[in-house]
Amino acid sequence: MTHPTDPQLWPANVTVTDGVLSLAGMSVTELAGTYGTPSFLLDVADLRERAARYRDALVGAFAPLGVDVDVYYASKAFLSTAVARWVHAEGLRIDTAAHGELATAIAAGIPGADIGLHGNNKSAAEITLALGHGVGRIVIDSLPEIELVGSIAAELGVRAPVMVRVTTGVHAGGHEFIATAHEDQKFGLSLASGAALEAMERIHADDRLDLLGLHSHIGSQILDPAGFGEAARALLGLRAEFAERTGELVPEVDLGGGFGIAYVPGEEGVDVAALAADLAGLLATEAQALGTTLPRLSFEPGRAIVGPTMITLYTVGTVKPVVLDDGGSRLYVSVDGGMSDNIRTALYDADYHAELVSRATTAPTVTARVVGKHCESGDIVVRNVALPADVDAGDLLAVPATGAYGRSMASNYNLLPRAGVVAVADGQAREIVRRETIEDVLALDMG
Ligand code: LLP
Repeated sequence: MTHPTDPQLWPANVTVTDGVLSLAGMSVTELAGTYGTPSFLLDVADLRERAARYRDALVGAFAPLGVDVDVYYASKAFLSTAVARWVHAEGLRIDTAAHGELATAIAAGIPGADIGLHGNNKSAAEITLALGHGVGRIVIDSLPEIELVGSIAAELGVRAPVMVRVTTGVHAGGHEFIATAHEDQKFGLSLASGAALEAMERIHADDRLDLLGLHSHIGSQILDPAGFGEAARALLGLRAEFAERTGELVPEVDLGGGFGIAYVPGEEGVDVAALAADLAGLLATEAQALGTTLPRLSFEPGRAIVGPTMITLYTVGTVKPVVLDDGGSRLYVSVDGGMSDNIRTALYDADYHAELVSRATTAPTVTARVVGKHCESGDIVVRNVALPADVDAGDLLAVPATGAYGRSMASNYNLLPRAGVVAVADGQAREIVRRETIEDVLALDMG
C-alpha cells in the first residue's frame, strides 16, 4: 500500500492498520457502516492546514515587496457552509460563481467584503444578491454586463466594486475544457482585440462602478507555473497602458487559480511557496521596467485547497475479468457510485488512483479498472490501477484526491441519489452534506 507514505496523494491524517485505512482517527469500515457508500470523506485538519499554507505562502512571498495579497477560495471546487467557515477562519475569502455558491457563502455568515462573484452570464438576481450583500467585488466578464451591474447598483443606491476579467492569450493547464485564457473560449474580455481596455474605459467613465482592477485565470490543474508569470506580465502591461491614458493606476490584480495537485502516485502538486517566490521576483522586475508600483494581488485556488483533503469511499459489487484484444486481461471492478460522483475521468480523461482499504491481503496485484454502476460504458472512475487479485464484493475501495470537482460536479444520472460528504476530525465524524435519499429524488418529481 502506498497511501500512508504518499502525502501528495492522500489526506494528511490517514493511517493504515492491518490493511484498514483510517482518516483522522476513524476507520473507513466504521464510517461506511454509519454513513454508507459511496461517501466523500473530508479530513478537516488537512483542509484547514492547506488553506493556511496557501495563505502563508502567497502572503509571505509578496510581503517583502510591500504588496498585500488576498487569497480567495474558489468555491466551485466544493462548497458547504462548514467549508466556507473553515477556510474563512484560516484567512481565505470566498470566490463564488453562481447563485448557489453565493447563497451558501452568505448562509455561512461570510461578510460581503470577503466574497467575490464571477460568471460569464450572471443573472440580474445574482448581481442583486451580491450587491445587496455588499460583496467586495464582481468580476466583469463581458461588455453588456457593465450596464447590467451599473443599473442594478444604481437601483440599490450603491457603487459596485468591479474587476475586468482579461483574456490574456496564455494557454495553460490540463485538458482543453479547463484552459480558460486562450482566445477561442467563452470567458473574459480579450486583451489582443482591445475589448479589455474598452471595458476598463467604460467602467472608469461610469459613476455607478468602481474599477478595482484586472483579473486573469489561465486554466486549471496547472503544474508548470510559467503561465502565471506570462499572464501577470500581460496584466501589468495593460494596467500601465490604462494609467498612461487616464492617469489612473488600478489598485488590484487577480491571477486566478489553477494550482495543480497530484492525482496518481508519483505525481507532485505545485509547490506554491516556490511559485510565489518566482512570481514575486518576476513582478518586481516587471513593475520596475514599467515604472509603476505593484498592485495589491489576489489568487483563487480551489482544487489545491480541497482536492487532496477528500477521498471517495466505495463498496465493491461485481468483479469481472475481461479478456482484451491483445490477449491480456483486465479486472473490471464495479463500485456503487461512478460518473455521478466523479465525472472527471469521462469528461477530461482524468487519471485517478484506487486502493483496497478494508482488509489486508497478500494476493498479487492485477490490472484493474474501477467502473461505476451507470448505464454507460464510459462510466469509469479509475481507468488503470493495480488492485489485489482477490478484490471482491463487499470490499471497500478508496479513491484519493476527489475533494475538488467530485461532489461539486455530481449528478443524479440514472436517478442515483448523490453521495454525502462526511467531515472527520479528531476521531469524530459528521455529515456536512447529507447523502441524498430516494425520497429526495422523488420529491422533485411533480407527477
Ligand atoms: N478562478 C476562476 C475564475 C476559475 O474559473 C476557476 C476554475 C478557479 C479560480 C479555480 O481553479 P482551480 O484552482 O480549482 O483549478 N471542473 C474542472 C475545472 C474547471 C474549473 C473552472 N474554473 C475540473 O474538474 O478540473
